[in-house]
Amino acid sequence: MTPVRVGIIGGGIVGPVAAILLKQQGYDPVIFERNDTRSEAGIGLGIQRNGLLVLQRIPGLVESLAGHTLDYFHFYSTLAEDSGVLGQLDGPKRRREQTGVGTIGIRRSVLQLALISAAERAGVEIRWGHHLNTLEQTEDGVTLSFANGARETVSFVVGCDGLHSDTRKALFGEERADYTGLTQTGGFAPMPEQYRGTSTAISVFGDGLPVDETTMSWAVTAREPEAKETWRAMDDAAAEDFKRASPVAQWDHGAGELVRNGVNVTKYGLYDRPELPTWHKGRVVLIGDAAHPTSPHLGQGANQAFEDAGALADLLAAHAPAAEPTTTAALEAAFQELEAARIPRTTFLVKRAREQGETRVVHGVPACVERNEFYRKLLADEALMRQWFAA
Ligand SMILES: Cc1cc2nc3c(=O)[nH]c(=O)nc-3n(C[C@H](O)[C@H](O)[C@H](O)COP(=O)(O)OP(=O)(O)OC[C@H]3O[C@@H](n4cnc5c(N)ncnc54)[C@H](O)[C@@H]3O)c2cc1C
Ligand SMILES: *[C@@H]1O[C@H](CO)[C@@H](O)[C@H](O)[C@H]1NC(C)=O
Ligand SMILES: *[C@@H]1O[C@H](CO)[C@@H](O)[C@H](O)[C@H]1NC(C)=O
Repeated sequence: MTPVRVGIIGGGIVGPVAAILLKQQGYDPVIFERNDTRSEAGIGLGIQRNGLLVLQRIPGLVESLAGHTLDYFHFYSTLAEDSGVLGQLDGPKRRREQTGVGTIGIRRSVLQLALISAAERAGVEIRWGHHLNTLEQTEDGVTLSFANGARETVSFVVGCDGLHSDTRKALFGEERADYTGLTQTGGFAPMPEQYRGTSTAISVFGDGLPVDETTMSWAVTAREPEAKETWRAMDDAAAEDFKRASPVAQWDHGAGELVRNGVNVTKYGLYDRPELPTWHKGRVVLIGDAAHPTSPHLGQGANQAFEDAGALADLLAAHAPAAEPTTTAALEAAFQELEAARIPRTTFLVKRAREQGETRVVHGVPACVERNEFYRKLLADEALMRQWFAA
């Protein structure tokens, strides 16, 4: 029997993972990525326990990730009227010691390279320079048309093409992403002295995240009129302007030091989308940011995408095994079960991430003190915290 050809649209973060997991189930996935090569862009992201549990299904991958273990999360306030420690968490350390699975901070570019390499090792074909334009569905397949003129017919399609997904557009029509009202300006910087030799992520009402032994990824959240969602680093003059103008450059607990020493400084608008009632149509399904883009404040974007990929591979194997003829009805049964399992969770987390973002930009002393009190209580109560961070 010829293997079931699956079109994976997008070779970003979740595309290669979905491809590898489907290959393990006996399908024949091929990744179509619009760019000619992987991206150097972006800053850091966190892979949490739930995401790592999915990545562990790929032999050798987690051990090969050149990231930095995150054992501690420290929260500080720099408000003159109410400054100091809001909470110091060691949950990730305890879970790492108990279960062997903790939390990792990693450069987005390094993660994408590791995932693409793992896909190649698993024998997944990757077609670079293939920008999906449209797709057409028949009873037993999907024909994909690309901007370079190529056309390919596959059995079914997994849209992993991110925030501005063309797969999503092809299924459900054009619809603008929602600007959250917040931007982030971030970069990399040498790890401040007080954190050297530790595994600590800091939140000084801005973000900080170690991505290797001596480097932190940082981001400053601000409320601003709409800004583009772009991951391109700004030029040196613009970066210097930001460092001069940002009050965060004077903050303590290492935050100011990170901003002042920032390199590859990048500014991007934060976007999400309202929940979709369904992630599929016929033989095409969306996962990751294509299905449920989120603002980044919970650090769950990539992790939820990995959860999607794990669940999708299992449900396809159960409903539409690669060894049998792949019917639209069988695929739809898998996709519907995926939606039932995943949409409530991702919808909750998208909303929660937006709320988290709002806590980072409150203005005025009374509102900031109230915010600080909220975090002190939250960070001291493990049950409440698990609920809030959905860890
Ligand atoms: C360049 C870049 C840098 C990023 N940097 C960060 C970061 O520093 N920190 C952070 O938290 N998040 C970052 N993100 C977002 C983060 O990768 C995602 O939120 C998350 O990991 C989910 O991944 P995804 O695979 O669903 O989407 P993405 O990572 O966005 O990947 C989507 C992929 O699909 C490709 N694609 C898009 N349209 C098409 C098409 N029509 N045909 C074929 N391919 C297509 C894109 O080129 C991309 O490779 C970045 C995203 C991008 C694209
Ligand atoms: C990827 O493709 C998009 C759209 O064509 C483009 O805007 C972006 O700059 C490309 N990125 C890289 C790394 O080539
Ligand atoms: C800055 O970006 C370049 C590529 O664009 C990369 O080679 C370099 O490692 C980055 N710097 C840090 C500190 O990550």
